[in-house]
Amino acid sequence: MNETIRTILERRSIRTYKTDIPDEKIVGQILEAGRYAPSAMNQQSWHFTVIRDRTLLEALDIACKKVFLESDVEALREVAARPDFSVFYQAPVLVIVSGDNTALAPRYDCTLAMENMLLAAASLDISSCWMHSIMMLYSTEKGKAVFRDLGITFPERHEPYAAAVFGYSAVALPDAEPRKEGDVTFIG
Ligand SMILES: Cc1cc2nc3c(=O)[nH]c(=O)nc-3n(C[C@H](O)[C@H](O)[C@H](O)COP(=O)(O)O)c2cc1C
Repeated sequence: MNETIRTILERRSIRTYKTDIPDEKIVGQILEAGRYAPSAMNQQSWHFTVIRDRTLLEALDIACKKVFLESDVEALREVAARPDFSVFYQAPVLVIVSGDNTALAPRYDCTLAMENMLLAAASLDISSCWMHSIMMLYSTEKGKAVFRDLGITFPERHEPYAAAVFGYSAVALPDAEPRKEGDVTFIG
């Protein structure tokens, strides 16, 4: 198996992190991989916001947890109600990819950039986990105010389309959950 395929198959969402922050060079390589994602008409509609401030991460974690607790989705409410639940799993770095909402396909541009980053991180022994709560938080006016109050701003016309935490795993990498079968149709 070649290294790229191996990285894709072995990347896992990790939910327990060490406090160590990956150094600038490693974070830079991960961001560079994001920039080299394909984008509609090569508009590169993304912007990368990297948050490493522990106090800020904790404040955002609390705001996201509140969104889960107030969600219509019972499973989310249950998870968030656990006393030891932390939305960001104490990971030391959060990256939010925002996209220009006047671009052709910012959601896809940003999602592809993030997938590149998750894979690049895995290849560098940095673990990651997608954070949907960021987009949930930003989807309400109250949530947008949380970002403003914390001083987390995005470029004009931008909104967050992808977010993930990164850091060193504090646990052994788990095996993948089995993938579904029967999800391919060949025609011809
Ligand atoms: C759109 C999307 C939203 C996700 N949101 C979260 C999240 O908020 N918290 C979390 O722990 N994992 C989240 N995940 C990670 C998935 O749970 C994970 O990818 C899935 O269980 C498969 O596991 P694997 O990534 O280890 O292969 C999300 C993944 C995607 C693609």
